[in-house]
Amino acid sequence: MSSQDIPEDKHLPSEQGDAHHAGVAVADDPFADPGLPAHKPRIQDIDERAAKRSERTVAMLFTISMLATIGFIAAYVTIPVDKIVFIFPLGKVSALNFALGLTLGAALFCIGAGAVHWARTLMSDVEVADERHPIQASPEVKAKVMQDFADGASESAIGRRPLIRNTMIGALAMLPLSALVIMRDLGPLPQEKLRKTLWAKGKLLINQNTMEPLRPEDVAVGSLTFAMPEGLEEEQHDFQVQIAKAALMIVRIQPEDIKDKKELEWSHDGIVAYSKICTHVGCPISLYEQQTHHVLCPCHQSTFDLSDGARVIFGPAGHALPQLRIGVNKEGFLEALGDFEEPVGPAFWERG
Ligand code: FES
Repeated sequence: MSSQDIPEDKHLPSEQGDAHHAGVAVADDPFADPGLPAHKPRIQDIDERAAKRSERTVAMLFTISMLATIGFIAAYVTIPVDKIVFIFPLGKVSALNFALGLTLGAALFCIGAGAVHWARTLMSDVEVADERHPIQASPEVKAKVMQDFADGASESAIGRRPLIRNTMIGALAMLPLSALVIMRDLGPLPQEKLRKTLWAKGKLLINQNTMEPLRPEDVAVGSLTFAMPEGLEEEQHDFQVQIAKAALMIVRIQPEDIKDKKELEWSHDGIVAYSKICTHVGCPISLYEQQTHHVLCPCHQSTFDLSDGARVIFGPAGHALPQLRIGVNKEGFLEALGDFEEPVGPAFWERG
């Protein structure tokens, strides 16, 4: 934009020849408005070749965005939902989610980067001062708006045509029903699905770090071990669904420190197994304080006492963590003696 393009009332104070802004008064008055610094042209403003280069860069970013959008559609259509790939450093991820995220991210990023580059290098960057105006409409404008509204209502004949008015109200009232109907997917709750996990009598406890069956001697006093049921494979399509219910925390406590009688009966030589899923809203619990036998959920700080039936001693969780009854099989491996006897995770699943 050249200085001729700038509206009359938006010219820089210095361009208006205002002595107050131009510095005369500034020198006398330290609190005077110094005005805006003089405009410095960019390389693109004075060199047409640089401007062309910027233009090509912007066009290239927009073109990449178009290609990324085509890639997004192609990925959505061609990649199977259950395909898992290994991506360093993320590990195993869903190929479809990865491709969709990557292409959509690239498409959005390139549009943003192109727009920013365009604005910074080619659009006018001449500083203009625009005085603030009151934002309230004048009484004449308000009166005109009300008159226009009344005229519109009268022209629509909504008062004279009750059939249209009533059916329109009916249509608008019913429209939200479509949003309500899809909430059916939230219930009735599949209680059996949530009540059952993969744990069953005789299932070995697999160390989630080593993927080896756990022996009692592998669990040291003071350590926190995460376990999952034998037979659950990370590659299987419902791994996340199953581990979200079956994830287990194993700790070893001196048997004489276990206060809860049932907990002691369900343990093996001081080794206790509890659901790792917080009973507040289902975060995985991961912090263990070995002196107090407390575990802490990092999400909202619910704290459970693993030496006392995992009862809640602090925080918003509604009830104790479910315990899994465990024993040792003939080969000396830790095994489950059944499934959890209560649903794991947030208490609200038990409603209804
Ligand atoms: S999910 Fe654990 S405290 Fe909220």
